[in-house]
Amino acid sequence: MKLCMIGTGYVGLVSGVCFSDLGNDVICVDKDVNKINNLKKGVIPIYEPGLEELVLKNIKNRRLNFSTNLKDSVKQSDIIFICVGTPAKKNSNSADLSQIYTAGKEISKSINKFKIIITKSTVPLTTGDELENIIAKKVKKKLFSVVSNPEFLREGEAIRDFVYPDRIVVGSNDIKSMKILKNLYSPLISKGAKFISTKRRAAELIKYAANAFLATKITFINEIANLCEKTDIDVEDISIGIGLDKRIGSRFLRAGPAYGGSCFPKDTKAIVSTADKFKTNLSIVKSVIKSNEIRSDLLSKRLNFILKNKIKNKVVSFLGVTFKANTDDMRDSSSLKLIPFLSKKGAKIKYYDPTGSKKEFKKFKNVEFSNSIKDALKGSDLVIVHTEWNDFKSINFKKFSKNNKLIIYDMRNIYSPYKIRKLGLKYFGIGR
Ligand code: UGA
Repeated sequence: MKLCMIGTGYVGLVSGVCFSDLGNDVICVDKDVNKINNLKKGVIPIYEPGLEELVLKNIKNRRLNFSTNLKDSVKQSDIIFICVGTPAKKNSNSADLSQIYTAGKEISKSINKFKIIITKSTVPLTTGDELENIIAKKVKKKLFSVVSNPEFLREGEAIRDFVYPDRIVVGSNDIKSMKILKNLYSPLISKGAKFISTKRRAAELIKYAANAFLATKITFINEIANLCEKTDIDVEDISIGIGLDKRIGSRFLRAGPAYGGSCFPKDTKAIVSTADKFKTNLSIVKSVIKSNEIRSDLLSKRLNFILKNKIKNKVVSFLGVTFKANTDDMRDSSSLKLIPFLSKKGAKIKYYDPTGSKKEFKKFKNVEFSNSIKDALKGSDLVIVHTEWNDFKSINFKKFSKNNKLIIYDMRNIYSPYKIRKLGLKYFGIGR
């Protein structure tokens, strides 16, 4: 099939490349000339394991193309995926849909035969209705169908999530488009992926409800971790003990520094805002947002406790500063609160991240980037394992640090407290 992806951000690029790898002809369109020129040469704007190889492979076999010409790209395609950003509005919790509607207007100028227009970006309930109205101002309704097909890709695991999805959700109010979409996804369905067909509005809500539920699960275990810390219990035992109950499930029960990234913080707020519009109180999600936001205060208190209220002049080494491993994304990372807190208290902060130094910390005089784990650990009093990169999972702390009083604060519970303590080092984890 001939596909057009509008927007070459995370969602558009990953989905476009993966669709081309399944044998479709894909054009990825973006207004950013520089980005498109780079992509044509196989230069990828984001860090995502496996993406570069897949882009190069599909450029070579001519199934993947890049363009800045939206009109021509739409004309040549049967299915158009809208993959533009839906950030939070300034001073509001609701999503800014201006890029979606602008794309809709642009598309409506180039419809020369029947097109399926899909929202793949995360868009609130009823966005499809509005998009349909916008396009219908220019185009006869029988010439297009607006469908919702949300993505469930995790950064760092996006290609695997595309190829082996738990489910594919398509929300369409017409059967013809549903059949075409089922056919598009048939290579994945034949490998076992479940295909769920719903009304368009339901698909829009499934995406938000899924992210809000996952954020709730994480926040729940983070609060249980707070209780474990006060009662000498290891939260990892609780995660296993409850996760093995099939009604609960073991995934997304890892206690950590607070959920971050470009999706959960934004989407939890947006679903509350949508529900408010429909006069429905999502009190659980509201509590989750609040609990996650105050988590950094709890972590700061714990840092005070770990360093016995003597943070000034202590050398604190961060291993990883992004919102999680396998990504270069800093959005809503807990390090953005913890590092400024430590900096203000007069600590000397060194950080190493496999994806390089971060502009967010340039303004702090006492925060410096280290080129390796070894450099970051040199002279350290406290090591904070902030993300769960494989590189951080089996560090020989004794080899890299001469400090016999070195403290490890393992915010991802990667290490065995017993083994670290056996080395004579102090260990703190989350909820243990
Ligand atoms: C999330 C969803 O998992 C995807 O299904 C969805 O498609 C995506 O948002 C989106 O809406 O685009 P992502 O934000 O990339 O994906 O990352 P996650 O792996 O879900 O992690 C989110 C945050 O939760 C991270 O800060 C992570 O460290 C934290 N987390 C995750 C935990 O603290 N504990 C866990 O057990 C799992």
